[in-house]
Amino acid sequence: MFFNLSEEHLAVKEAAREFAQKELKPGVIERDSKMEYPYEQVKKMGELGFLGMMISPEYGGGGMDTLAYVLAMEEISKVDNSCSVIMSVNNSLVCWGLEEYGTAEQKAKYLPKLATGEWIGAFCLSEPEAGSDATHQRTTAVDMGDHYLLNGTKNWITNGGSSKLHLVMAQTNPELGSKGINCLIVETSSPGVSIGAKEDKLGIRSSDTHTIMYSDVKVPKENRIGPDGFGFKFAMKTLAGGRIGIASQALGIAGGAYELAADYAKQRETFGKPIINHQAIAFKLADMATDIEAAKMMVYRAAWLKDQGLDYNGASAMAKLYASDVAMRHTVEAVQIHGGYGFVKEYHVERLMRDAKITQIYEGTSEVQKIVISREVMNGNLYLPVVGGVEVGA
Ligand code: CAA
Repeated sequence: MFFNLSEEHLAVKEAAREFAQKELKPGVIERDSKMEYPYEQVKKMGELGFLGMMISPEYGGGGMDTLAYVLAMEEISKVDNSCSVIMSVNNSLVCWGLEEYGTAEQKAKYLPKLATGEWIGAFCLSEPEAGSDATHQRTTAVDMGDHYLLNGTKNWITNGGSSKLHLVMAQTNPELGSKGINCLIVETSSPGVSIGAKEDKLGIRSSDTHTIMYSDVKVPKENRIGPDGFGFKFAMKTLAGGRIGIASQALGIAGGAYELAADYAKQRETFGKPIINHQAIAFKLADMATDIEAAKMMVYRAAWLKDQGLDYNGASAMAKLYASDVAMRHTVEAVQIHGGYGFVKEYHVERLMRDAKITQIYEGTSEVQKIVISREVMNGNLYLPVVGGVEVGA
């Protein structure tokens, strides 16, 4: 068993760290306060290749593996989670889904734009009455012969205001339940697409989360992904990978808070010594470091399973469940270590604490992850050690 990262992986991690510390950190507090969308920063992420990391070079992407993507997400999430969620949705929900399940024509038409950030994509599954209960889609895509007629409302859509392309899940054959759902590629310039107001959120405040309305939008038949009725399976398979992205975001949030808290504890003195020399503080940092290492193993392993072509459905749910809890718990502790300074914006930890909460909610709440994991348990898929590329007991 090897735990060392390759030269290439280390280089990606370092490039992402440098970008985050030098280019994202300086304005992050102000962007968060003003809910200002990071246009310049997203443009730069596109230029540096962070928006299409796993897309094959044939379509203008980086051709990297999931682990490289996770390492970059982790470093960027230590600083700016509005940027990292924009990056995560574009990479794992939109680009990966399109490349894995799209037709040659769909890939050639859309991936080069998405890989460079010329276009940003959004994944439109959630609805006002279908969040966790995602099979109950109210949005309809009526088959009109040569096109679908799309009607409905989606909400909590990341990249809702900035995206040029939506992957929209909609019901075509209600009598077939989840097997009647299709995923359609919708260009946001299409007549009938309208964007609601930007949500005023607790965290990830500069990312653009919107409600989207589709009113008699004509979507060409060739914009359907996969065979008729494949839309729900597409969403689930894509979200299994997306959850690795959010797990790496949570890992980054916890790691960022830990780095800030450890630095602060070495500098801040009380009762005549740095507070890190008080056991009350040192034990908090020891717990943080231990839990972050455990989360890291789970997140990297989920990425590794995906890169090996092995089943990662349960592993990604476990990684997201665990890492998001670590992020929430330890950002609270990082604020506590900072005392009063932790409660003000200047010290960054209060923002990380606010950002942590969403990692327990989006791309499937923690409760949904437990549904996914418990079904894997029921199926006897216990994720025992891998021998010769085959999961023992799988
Ligand atoms: N891969 C392939 N197929 C899958 C699958 C997977 N991972 N998970 C489920 N399916 C299949 C099932 O096998 C079933 O197919 P069959 O009928 O052929 O057996 C079908 O899909 C329906 O599945 P279930 O019966 O399991 O459906 P359910 O109603 O019990 O729901 C659920 C399961 C796991 C709770 C699912 O609804 C779910 O994941 N909900 C959460 C949705 C979610 O994550 N939303 C996030 C929105 S996107 C977002 O947040 C992005 C953003 O902007 C940041």
